[in-house]
Amino acid sequence: MKNRVIVTGGAGFIGSNFILQWIAQEPGIVINLDKLTYAGNLRNLEQVSGHQHYSFVHGDICDRELVSDLLERNQPRAIVHFAAESHVDRSIHGPDDFVRTNVQGTFSLLEAVRAYWSALNESERADFRFLHVSTDEVYGSLGPGDAPFSESTPYSPNSPYSASKAASDHLVRAYHHTYGLPTLTTNCSNNYGPFQFPEKLIPLMILNARKGKPLPVYGDGQNVRDWLYVLDHCEAIRIVLAKGVPGQNYNIGGWNEKPNIEIVQTICALLDELSPKDPVVPHKDLITYVKDRPGHDRRYSMDARKIERELGWRPRETFETGIRKTVEWYLSNEAWIEEVTSGSYRQWIAKHYA
Ligand code: NAD
Ligand code: TYD
Repeated sequence: MKNRVIVTGGAGFIGSNFILQWIAQEPGIVINLDKLTYAGNLRNLEQVSGHQHYSFVHGDICDRELVSDLLERNQPRAIVHFAAESHVDRSIHGPDDFVRTNVQGTFSLLEAVRAYWSALNESERADFRFLHVSTDEVYGSLGPGDAPFSESTPYSPNSPYSASKAASDHLVRAYHHTYGLPTLTTNCSNNYGPFQFPEKLIPLMILNARKGKPLPVYGDGQNVRDWLYVLDHCEAIRIVLAKGVPGQNYNIGGWNEKPNIEIVQTICALLDELSPKDPVVPHKDLITYVKDRPGHDRRYSMDARKIERELGWRPRETFETGIRKTVEWYLSNEAWIEEVTSGSYRQWIAKHYA
């Protein structure tokens, strides 16, 4: 039981960064349960695949029998739940998978965990944690002068993605309130960094810019997001797991709000410096304004003072240091890019940007 955790969705962007950081910094064992959808990639975990503290189980969080069996056999002291469909644009094209994995999957996982947890002895029950990884998008959209989202901001999700995450957050809350399950929920802002699938803004722009392809900026490019380097998010999750109070929510943010156009311009300037032989330089000549995303949230902003005050976490990276590391990572990991941009990735890009 001691420090053994089951991570769901550990082959995705944030989950794989979390596992790599966990293995490097924690003494405990991590079991990764992942369905390996288009977004899951075991290559992200190559460095630890043979490590004695790491194991992988290929499976679906909706498969309650498999999850119950995994819990019984491994007797974890915590679940860290990342598994989700995570891309807003995909949720607009086809919301079914979002409801299935994010809502039904979280429900199914909670039911299996409740049964396992109820059978533990009293001290094990008190030590157990179910940490649910969620997003700032559940709070809705802000205007330019509005106060940032706090943990008490009412939920107001606008996309099928954020609605499905909000539903899962409510289920987690109810399992604490009704059954006493020791849950923790983290709501984090936009992440960026190594291993992010190139359908999301930052890696998509890096890859297109390198190939001399248009950089598709939605609408007027003035939508604002708060960007956090992924390893800072992973550290925050480890701190919440160790010190968070059951039943509580913690906002996690980068203190780094920027309009999308500024993010794209920064990437272009870095590539001018680091990859000057690309087909189109200056890279900013590739910026192309395209039709806006339907229902596009205007601004997200996180008040992350609670986690700092109560648990002592603040991000380590600034945007300048984090984005440079990220661009450098994509420049030096061409084999990874080749692999993830084959087949179904091409179909998505062709369909969405047609
Ligand atoms: P991702 O899409 O990169 O990875 C999701 C992982 O979950 C993949 O490995 C996939 O194979 C797995 N998965 C999907 N459905 C599954 C199922 N039914 N059973 C088991 N595994 C399944 O996502 P991400 O960006 O790493 O996000 C991880 C979590 O963090 C999500 O819950 C997301 O809502 C949340 N989050 C993401 C961000 C962000 O900026 N990326 C910000 C805040 C919160
Ligand atoms: P994204 O990375 O999809 O994250 P989210 O929608 O969860 O915040 O998008 C970040 C921002 O970038 C969002 O405002 C939409 C915008 N965007 C573009 O302008 N062009 C693109 O091609 C993509 C993928 C996103």
